Amino acid sequence: VRVAVLGTGDVGRCLAAELAEVGHEVVVGTREVEVTRARPAGEHASFDDWSDAHPGVGLATYAEAAAGADLVVNAAAGVVSLEVVAAIDPADLDGVVLLDVSNPLDFSAGFPPTLTVANDDSLAEQLQRACPGARVVKSLNTVSHTVMVDPSRLAGPHEVFVAGDDADAKQVVTDVLVGFGWSPDAVVDLGPLRAARGAEMYLPLWLSLMQALGTTEFNLHVVRGES
Ligand SMILES: NC(=O)c1ccc[n+]([C@@H]2O[C@H](COP(=O)([O-])OP(=O)(O)OC[C@H]3O[C@@H](n4cnc5c(N)ncnc54)[C@H](OP(=O)(O)O)[C@@H]3O)[C@@H](O)[C@H]2O)c1
Repeated sequence: VRVAVLGTGDVGRCLAAELAEVGHEVVVGTREVEVTRARPAGEHASFDDWSDAHPGVGLATYAEAAAGADLVVNAAAGVVSLEVVAAIDPADLDGVVLLDVSNPLDFSAGFPPTLTVANDDSLAEQLQRACPGARVVKSLNTVSHTVMVDPSRLAGPHEVFVAGDDADAKQVVTDVLVGFGWSPDAVVDLGPLRAARGAEMYLPLWLSLMQALGTTEFNLHVVRGES
């Protein structure tokens, strides 16, 4: 499978590395290839150093990365995600599974961030409206990037959610999650894409938990009643 991972941050790198590791052909998408390659190390390693350690993963503009991809992953900052998909030729998204792992967080007034969309809409639905030919699936936005690709980092059972309007697309994403090590039982199908609203509105609680627990490595476990 050809995969485009839109985003060069921690999430894009982590997902790209793992998708390549499990055998997919992966290209990371960015605004400007030369600018990204020239950016020095800051919060994390420079992309160039990361790239040297992952020689099988390509780097291209968002549009070039998405051209010919079977699966496109939106791992861009939430506030720019609509801009990012707008850079892609709509024909290249026709029928494509668009896995959206982003969160609609606005940090412009500092921490904690606010949600740019909530209640009666979600970023995932905004992306679906912006890319009507694509089959958008929301998943992985409720866990840190390290847990996304290695759920065994957390002891005991814990879950990840999928939401989307296309059952086959959700199966494609579920297969990707299982490839990352999630047990099929740990993948909870929340139903249609509108369920992404709740998954995104969990973020304020996720951020409070991060502060309370002093770590980004935690997750939810849903305990079912007997009846
Ligand atoms: N960090 C986590 O553990 C975690 C967990 C769950 C979900 N998420 C979500 O995953 C997404 C990615 O998070 P992240 O921390 O890896 O990266 P990030 O810093 O949120 O986003 C980095 C990406 O956004 C792009 N970008 C920034 N400004 C842009 C603009 N004006 N136009 C187009 N693209 C622009 C950057 O492009 P360039 O490549 O050109 O610089 C880069 O590819 C976010 O939506 C985040 O909320 C994060």
